Amino acid sequence: MKRRRLIGLGAAALIAGWALRPSDRGQAHAPYFDALNQLLRREGNGIPLLVVDMDALDHNTELLARRLAGKLPVRLVAKSLAANGLLGYLAEKLGTQRFMVFHQPQLNELARAFPRADLLLGKPLPAKAALSLYQQLGNHSAFDPSRQLTWLVDTPQRLAEYAQLAGALGQPLQIALEIDVGLARGGFPDPAQLATALTWLREHKPSLVLRGLMGYEVQVAHTPPWQSQASAFAESMARYRAFIDTAQGFTDLWPSEPLLNGAGSLTYPLHAREDTPLNEVAVGSVLLKPGDFDSRLLGAHRPALYIASPVLKAQDGALPYLGGVQPLLQRWDRNRERALYIYGGQWPAEPLSPAGLRYDSLYGRSANQERLIGSERTAVDVDDWVFLRPDRSEGVLTAFNELRLLRHGRFVGSWAPHKHP
Ligand SMILES: Cc1ncc(COP(=O)(O)O)c(C=O)c1O
Repeated sequence: MKRRRLIGLGAAALIAGWALRPSDRGQAHAPYFDALNQLLRREGNGIPLLVVDMDALDHNTELLARRLAGKLPVRLVAKSLAANGLLGYLAEKLGTQRFMVFHQPQLNELARAFPRADLLLGKPLPAKAALSLYQQLGNHSAFDPSRQLTWLVDTPQRLAEYAQLAGALGQPLQIALEIDVGLARGGFPDPAQLATALTWLREHKPSLVLRGLMGYEVQVAHTPPWQSQASAFAESMARYRAFIDTAQGFTDLWPSEPLLNGAGSLTYPLHAREDTPLNEVAVGSVLLKPGDFDSRLLGAHRPALYIASPVLKAQDGALPYLGGVQPLLQRWDRNRERALYIYGGQWPAEPLSPAGLRYDSLYGRSANQERLIGSERTAVDVDDWVFLRPDRSEGVLTAFNELRLLRHGRFVGSWAPHKHP
């Protein structure tokens, strides 16, 4: 009696398990990616690359320009757009020569490629890294760091170090002071400590030229459930204004046209439509709109960046060690019927097309030949191309040899990403 009950229960569990089996999510490439696949089969070099949809890039750039409508100039965030061709294209379209930079080799690269640029650091660099810029700049550079480069200073110690560097170099260094407007990522924490730094500057008169302030407020895009975005933005901007009020008291140091930088892709629409103390916004990623930038505020922007990788192997979705269980597992989850091994992998990206492809959590990831699984209906084969959507552009562009430019369904050129990570 007991045994029969157990068998009955087992059968019921099996039936319930079967009823709960995942639906077949496999699909062939949608028309956009099918055309891209055909194009890459003809014109690709057989190694992974990034595709920039120029129509989407133009849409994003024009939307940004329209929203800011001359009210706020844009500073292009170079780490998120790390290719000279891309930066140059956007700089031209947006009428800006302002770039925000986070890496010393990239500073030298931009000083060389954009001799008219205005470069602002997005994070404070060790004074030794700053020294390297001058050592690597060369004597014949058209770029004049004493006018075109602004270092970021976050503490009294760094202020003293940069003062010393200016003395050692025998030339003035421009600086902006990093302020904490709620992100808790360093910078001067309150107006009183900013005032102490400014008093030190006034008393020591080092060869440092104060340009203004930088306060990044991305926390406003990630508010907890108990705080509204509107109030978080208002609080952060009130903090920014308090720093400005203090700095304005130092009339001998504070410039008549200060640099007041802030924002980023995730918050720029707030500055565009609300009252803001900033006089420029830093924007990078949303022009390519990788997956981490799918937010309500950025809903009108379009994805413009894809990873394309050729399929090296297409086979039955077998897993090691499973033996006789394998067919059952595949019948239970049809999305395990096929396994594709693609060229490269382990990018911060999600499989996108054909829809229904996914990483195999039972198998793991690979940077060399990533395994993607899907059903029979994901109709791709060896030498076809699959597409992934990067989560971010920062650190992704530099992992590829080429950005291939797609316009109206045709390849119209390519850009080389920066080589330094
Ligand atoms: C200081 C600063 N400003 C702006 C940005 C915004 O960059 P993006 O527009 O690419 O998100 C960042 C990103 O990390 C940052 O650190």
